[in-house]
Amino acid sequence: MYNLLKGKKGIIFGALNDKSLAWKIAERAYEEGAEIILTNTPVSMRFGDIETLAEKCNTIVIPADATSEKDLQNLIEKALEHFGTKIDFILHSVAMSMNVRKGLLYDNVNYNFYQKTIDISALSFHKVLQTAKKLDAINEWGSVVALSYIAAQRTLYGYNDMADAKSLLESIARSFGYIYGRKKKIRVNTISQSPTMTTAGSGVKGMEGLMDFTERLSPLGNATSDECADYCITLFSDLTKKVTMQNLYHDGGFSNMGMSLRAMKMYNKSLEKPIDDDVLVS
Ligand SMILES: NC(=O)c1ccc[n+]([C@@H]2O[C@H](COP(=O)([O-])OP(=O)(O)OC[C@H]3O[C@@H](n4cnc5c(N)ncnc54)[C@H](O)[C@@H]3O)[C@@H](O)[C@H]2O)c1
Repeated sequence: MYNLLKGKKGIIFGALNDKSLAWKIAERAYEEGAEIILTNTPVSMRFGDIETLAEKCNTIVIPADATSEKDLQNLIEKALEHFGTKIDFILHSVAMSMNVRKGLLYDNVNYNFYQKTIDISALSFHKVLQTAKKLDAINEWGSVVALSYIAAQRTLYGYNDMADAKSLLESIARSFGYIYGRKKKIRVNTISQSPTMTTAGSGVKGMEGLMDFTERLSPLGNATSDECADYCITLFSDLTKKVTMQNLYHDGGFSNMGMSLRAMKMYNKSLEKPIDDDVLVS
């Protein structure tokens, strides 16, 4: 441990169970000396295991639906009260798509679900930032990080409306990063993480095949959730004070690859006539 977050206070969204990226990030932040508050929706708190994490990190859980401005205001006010001082970092690790869950394809989405996907997985990031700014809740040189995925830039089969949500999420990091940086010296970034077998991750169609593909393609292999936590800690720390408005790939090199020897060998094993995706899944 390096005590990189000694004396810092943070809010961590999105720890559902011990597979969650936010769970690992909370554990690492605590190990690095931070005081944290955990938050999730009341439903996820019931179905998940967040109280166990709270005990481990010697902290409390404040329920909040990240799409509700009222809940976010209550969360941030209570966090300020709990810490007795402003906060230094926020992790947004929140996403959900009913279209993905229900297996609806991108050319046959339910638009109510689509709007919810955008609200939960992208707009909520804006709401968190705007609420924090209005309450002047974050110290100068504070850091806000959201977790993204390369489907924001490249089309990946099965990622559906979440791809659009991630594009918006990354755009919000840039647009808000400009304002928050200029006004308060607060940095806003997204980390674009390798596919990882979490609850949300395992909902993506063909996740195992996708993880094998990205593992073969990435010179350093897929980034694990523990490695994601390490990277996040650097962004919360004072070692990255001038990094803002960035989408930072944490993917073992995948984002800059086209084809690797390991992937090509696998691909060459089966050169069957390609079949259209939709035929396979509808
Ligand atoms: N697992 C992957 O392959 C992967 C890769 C890149 C990025 N990500 C991103 O990482 C983040 C965390 O996902 P994860 O993989 O750890 O899965 P996860 O299922 O453990 O976490 C998703 C979290 O979002 C929370 N959530 C859903 N709706 C909410 C709402 N309305 N308000 C507040 N919280 C809500 C859930 O309760 C859950 O804790 C997501 O943004 C996801 O898109 C995941």
